[in-house]
Amino acid sequence: MKLLTIFLAIGLLVVNAGIKAETIEAGKPVDIVVYRSPSCNCCGKWLEHLKNNNFNVKDIVTGDVQAIKNKYGVSKEMASCHTAIVDGYVVEGHLPANDIMKLLKTKPKIVGIAVPGMPSGTPGMEMGGRKDPYKVMSFDRENHYKVFSSYE
Ligand code: CU
Ligand code: CU
Repeated sequence: MKLLTIFLAIGLLVVNAGIKAETIEAGKPVDIVVYRSPSCNCCGKWLEHLKNNNFNVKDIVTGDVQAIKNKYGVSKEMASCHTAIVDGYVVEGHLPANDIMKLLKTKPKIVGIAVPGMPSGTPGMEMGGRKDPYKVMSFDRENHYKVFSSYE
């Protein structure tokens, strides 16, 4: 059991070492994998947001997004429509590209970040001029949640 934990920790380190700071500073496109349901319109719009912000998107359409969330440790509290993986981190929901870049630059020891639910006014969830206040949360393996950034 202890050994398994060590292996997992090493695995995570290796994955998280993927994207170098230079890559981000040089403004090179950042690879991201997005899992989404075929019937979700807002997911497609979020993909556009990513592409417009220098992300190289691998778009994976799946009928079972819940299986992906279970696999990557996205709890019910954090869940939104789509789930993405970038540099070993989980990115859940309609996150602004800026927050993903902040994640990649600061590399905190967390599992990922999320915008739970689907607040209006987030990237891909534009509803005319309507903007709900929302928070970007970070989460870890034990489901400790912290505010990563907030939009009022
Ligand atoms: Cu959505
Ligand atoms: Cu979505």
